[in-house]
Formats: sequence, C-alpha cells, structure tokens
Amino acid sequence: MTNSQLYNAIFRRRSIRKYDMSPLPADTLEKLQEFVSVTKPLDESIRYEFTYLGSPDVKNLLPIKAPHYICLYSEKKGNYLMNAGFLLQQVDLYLSENNLASCWLGMAKPAKGVPMLMNGLEFVIMLSFGNTMEPIHRANTSEFKRKNLPEISSVAGAEALLEPVRLAPSASNTQTWFFSGDLELITVSRKKLNILKAQVYGKMNQIDIGIALFHLWLSVDHQGKVASYSFEKDAVPSGYEFMAKVKISN
Ligand SMILES: Cc1cc2nc3c(=O)[nH]c(=O)nc-3n(C[C@H](O)[C@H](O)[C@H](O)COP(=O)(O)O)c2cc1C
Repeated sequence: MTNSQLYNAIFRRRSIRKYDMSPLPADTLEKLQEFVSVTKPLDESIRYEFTYLGSPDVKNLLPIKAPHYICLYSEKKGNYLMNAGFLLQQVDLYLSENNLASCWLGMAKPAKGVPMLMNGLEFVIMLSFGNTMEPIHRANTSEFKRKNLPEISSVAGAEALLEPVRLAPSASNTQTWFFSGDLELITVSRKKLNILKAQVYGKMNQIDIGIALFHLWLSVDHQGKVASYSFEKDAVPSGYEFMAKVKISN
C-alpha cells in the first residue's frame, strides 16, 4: 500500500463497531501482517510487538465484538504512547483503504489467560477489525464531527497541511491537540486535563497525539516534503502540555 493510498483513507475512514463475525480469509490476514511488519515507528529506540487475537481472547467493557483484534505491546519508556498511536494508525488507515472495518479500543484488554506482558513488553492498546454490513467509508469530510481548524491551530497558512490532521480520530473524540509555530517548525501540544479527566483520558490522549503525528507525516509527504520529529521541550500556549516538534523540510 502506498503513502498516497493511506493519505486518501484519512478523508473517508470512520470507526465501525458492528462486525460480521465470520473470520477474514487467510490471504487477507497474511497481507495485513505483511503491511504491519513494515509499519514505521515514531521513535526507533522503543521496542514493540504486534499480536493478533480472536473474539474469545478479548475482554471489552463495551459490547463491541469483532472477529479479529490487533494488539500493540511495547516497552514502557519515553514516548511509547505516542509511538503506539503512530504505529497503529497506519493499520487503521490500511484497513479502511482495504474496505475493512476497524475501531480503536481503549476500553478493551486481553482476556484472562492472555498475557498482558510479553518478552518485557506490556499490552498498550488494540484495534478491532473485520467485515461489516455497515458502510465502511464516509461520503465526504462534512460527515466528520471535528473541531474547526482555528480551534486547534495558530499556524499561519497551514490550512491544507493540517486538514488531514484535524480529521484524525481520538479517544471519545476529545481532540486535545494544538499546533503552533510556522510551516517549517510545528510545535504539537496537548490540552492539560484536570485530575479527574487525566485519570480517564491521560494515556489515551497521548496515543491520540501519535495518531495526529502520523496524519501530519502523511500530509507532509503528500506535499512532497519530509517531516522529522524532536522531543526536547519548547514553549506551548498556556493550558497546554508540550508533546513534540515537527520540522518540515524540502
Ligand atoms: C485511543 C483511542 C481509543 C478509543 N477507544 C474507543 C473505545 O474503547 N470504544 C469505542 O467505541 N471507540 C473508541 N475509540 C474511537 C473514537 O470514539 C472515535 O475515533 C472518535 O469518536 C472519532 O470518530 P471516528 O473514528 O468515526 O472518526 C477510540 C479512539 C482512539 C483514538
């Protein structure tokens, strides 16, 4: 799958929570696994592994049942939550572009008997996937419930660059990201949460930023430019927490 196919998926993907429970054909799963094996991390220094589970192996607080799940296990260090979002969003877009249904599941965990720890890596998050009777795609971007660009960005002239980022999925659609700086160096920050909200969304919102960073990577690539990331703290608007800086070069 090419980067432009993944880019196109951004503008029509949606979460799907009702699945046809028949398993996908073996060759569909093999092709997915091939794609998964070439996904790129945000931070090369973090060890991670993907695993695949079936419905009996998953415990979900919400009644979402799917024939397949892909889980990410990771070393718990540094930006591992952003890294998880960056990696699994590649899979979410791949599935959508292949006419398969998927949904991020922050509330689901491996069932009793399925390890939470594997080779020193801890379970982080999973996506459900499979076939569905529901429409896989949105007809156009007006069907996305998202904040307007001025609510999430102060970068002048970044309408085209940040539109695919604005459409990124986030836990409970919280969209806590903010983009500042200029077209060559964008600072990505995240709304600070009060203690109660931080307990519920603190981890998920870091995964969300990783998702947004992958959409930004595709958007920069689509403009024929290159994105590189750094994580040394920099100034952010008041009420926000620094997450990453994205350098955009020709
Ligand atoms: C990190 C993360 C965790 C999520 N967890 C759940 C979940 O547990 N259950 C669920 O139904 N949807 C979950 N979602 C899906 C979001 O609710 C959904 O992406 C958001 O409402 C935007 O809708 P869309 O994906 O259809 O564009 C999650 C999304 C993300 C990014």
